[in-house]
Amino acid sequence: MSTVIAIIGGTGLDDPTIVTNRKELEDIEETPWGEPSTIFKGEVNGETVFILSRHGRLHNKSPSQVNYCANLWALKRLGVTHIVATTACGSLKEEYSPGDLVVLSDYIDMTKGYRVNTHVGTAVENGGPKGIIHLPSKPAYDEDLREILIESLKESGVDHKTRGTAVCIEGPRFSSYAESCIFRDVYKAEIVNMTACPETSIAREMGMHYASIAMVTDYDCWKENEEVNVANVTKQMLINAKSVGKVVPIIIRKIKEQDWRKSRESLLAAVKTAIMEC
Ligand code: ADE
Repeated sequence: MSTVIAIIGGTGLDDPTIVTNRKELEDIEETPWGEPSTIFKGEVNGETVFILSRHGRLHNKSPSQVNYCANLWALKRLGVTHIVATTACGSLKEEYSPGDLVVLSDYIDMTKGYRVNTHVGTAVENGGPKGIIHLPSKPAYDEDLREILIESLKESGVDHKTRGTAVCIEGPRFSSYAESCIFRDVYKAEIVNMTACPETSIAREMGMHYASIAMVTDYDCWKENEEVNVANVTKQMLINAKSVGKVVPIIIRKIKEQDWRKSRESLLAAVKTAIMEC
């Protein structure tokens, strides 16, 4: 099976010197969960890459409104085998600084149940798969793909952290001070964001290798004199985009060079044994 790569998020990838021949796909079929977000096809160092704008091209879908199942199903239908997600995040630790790129290693799902959190059994009437899936979530992210992200970040010279647990909140509001302190002091997580869940687990359910780079834009509100707001987050995102642009070509090259047969076999076996047919 050939390796087909998608990037979700796409921050930093609107630079035509990084992604060439970029075109929006206009003939994407409706999925059993409805319409996916905008998907582009382009090339990085001559390799085909799909780029999915999680929040839509006009950034008009809140984290709760993103159709995670539809997005991932559409990518799967395009033959995607590997997903590198990018996501903005707040830091819960002094040493995770704005500008750092963090290779996520785990998550704590603090979403409130408004999101469809599995693709199995949730759209059977429209042709989605039947049954119930009890997917093991340790490790939360694909370890082989994480390793490639870490190696690529090292090679790029971009400031980064090789691990981090993300608390995924429902949003769209940022956390209160009390919430931020709980995430930091009780949960001992490093990162807070709004989209890690359920994207991470649904990608795995669908048998795609998935790992995520979180871009630190702010110290959440636990920190004295820090103000988390859209203006500050957006300003830092523009800076982080440059780092993403540096590392993505290296990631694509390394994914393409790797022999994925063993890793793929164990991923597909894990998914198969997790499904209970009813
Ligand atoms: N995305 C960027 N900064 C964030 C924060 N502080 N909390 C949740 N999501 C974020």
